[in-house]
Amino acid sequence: MPGVQQVEHPVRQHHAATFLEPARTPRHRRAEREEFWVVECHALASLDPRLPVVNPASFPRRVMNLRPALFLLALTALASAAFASREKPVIGLSLDTLKEERWQRDRDTFIAEAQRLGATVIVQSANSDDTRQVRDVESLISRKVDVLVIVPHNGSAMTRAVKSANDAKIPVIAYDRLILNAQIDYYLTFDNVKVGEAQAGYIVPRLPKDRPARIVRIYGAPTDNNAKLFKQGQDNILGPLIKAGKIQVVHEDWALDWKPENAKKIMNAAVTKAGRNLDAVIVSNDGTAGGAIQALQEDGLAGKVLVTGQDADLAACQRILRGTQAMTVYKPLTKLSHLAARIAVEVAKGGKPAATSTLHNGAKDVPSIFEAVIPVDKDNLLSTVVADGFHKAADLK
Ligand code: GAL
Repeated sequence: MPGVQQVEHPVRQHHAATFLEPARTPRHRRAEREEFWVVECHALASLDPRLPVVNPASFPRRVMNLRPALFLLALTALASAAFASREKPVIGLSLDTLKEERWQRDRDTFIAEAQRLGATVIVQSANSDDTRQVRDVESLISRKVDVLVIVPHNGSAMTRAVKSANDAKIPVIAYDRLILNAQIDYYLTFDNVKVGEAQAGYIVPRLPKDRPARIVRIYGAPTDNNAKLFKQGQDNILGPLIKAGKIQVVHEDWALDWKPENAKKIMNAAVTKAGRNLDAVIVSNDGTAGGAIQALQEDGLAGKVLVTGQDADLAACQRILRGTQAMTVYKPLTKLSHLAARIAVEVAKGGKPAATSTLHNGAKDVPSIFEAVIPVDKDNLLSTVVADGFHKAADLK
C-alpha cells in the first residue's frame, strides 16, 4: 500500500522536529499528545501494512478514552502469552543418533511423558555428526525453546553449543551422556560405573581358575564419556586380577561411534593376534557385542567364549537365550526418560528440581541423578526385562 510507505518518512521528520524545540503552550501539548498516537498508529502500520493509517484527531472522544483499557488488554494478552508458554513449554531434544534401538525408545517414551505433562517436544538427530549436532542445538536455540535436553555424540564438541544456550539463557540438561567443560544445569543418567562393574563382575567368577584367563576388551566410542565410565567400572573389578596375573588382556580397543562393524574388526584382529584360545570378551554394549559375536561365529567360537553387553536390546536378549551372549545390563529406559521429561518441564517453568548427587564435568559440579542398572542373563531375563514389559516373551524366541 503506497500510503504506508509514504507515512513512514513523515514520521521520522516529525520526530526530529519534536525533540529539538520544547513547545509548552496547551496547543503544543495537545499536538504532542496527538503526535504520540500517530507514531503508535504508524508503528502498527509498519508492523502490518494491511492496517489503514488514520489520523486520531478524527477519532470520537469516547474512543480516545478507551486507550487505558486497550493498553491493559494488550498487557494482559502479553502476560497470558507468557503464562501460556510456561504452561505449555517447548523442549528441544537433540539426539546423537537414532541408529541404536535404545535411542528410539528413549525418544518415544520421553515425548509421551512430556506431552502428558503439557509440553511440546522438537526432536533433532545428528547421525553421530558433531558439526551437525552443534547446528541442531543452534537451530533449537533460534526457535526459542524453553529448555534443551541433549544426548551428546561427543561430550567435548558440545561445549560451545551449550555456551550459546547459556547466552540465550536456555537451561541445558545432559541426557545419559555427560557434556564436558560446560555450564549445564542437570545430568540425568544411569549409574554407568555400575554398568562396567556388573559386566566384569559377571565374567570373573566364570573364568578358569587353574591358569591365567585370556580375555579381550572392546570399549565403546572414545568420544562418549560413558564409555570411559563403563571401562572404569570394569577396571574396578579386573584391575587387581590383571595385576595379580590371574587375567591376561590379550587384545583391547575402542569401537568408534559404537559401530557393530568396528567391534567386529577389533574381534577379528584379536583372534588373528591372540589365537582362538580365548575365555571371554568384555564388550560395553549390545550393539558392539553383536559385531564381536559375528566375528566369533566366523571362527566357530560363538557360544564358547563368554560375551558381555548392555542395553537389553531385543537381538541381545535372543542371543542370551540362544547362548551366544552371556549377559547384558538392563537399564529401565522409561524411568530415565520420564524423569528427564519431568525435570525438563519443571525447569522450563522456572523450577529448580532437586538432584540426588553431583558429578564434576570439568567446569562445575553438575546436579545429577543416577538411576540403577540390572545385570541380566538367561536366568532372570523373564523376571526383569519381560516382567517390565521392555520386551514380550513371544519376541524373544
Ligand atoms: C552409551 C549408552 C549406552 C549405549 C551406547 C551406544 O552412552 O549409555 O546405553 O547405548 O551409548 O549408543
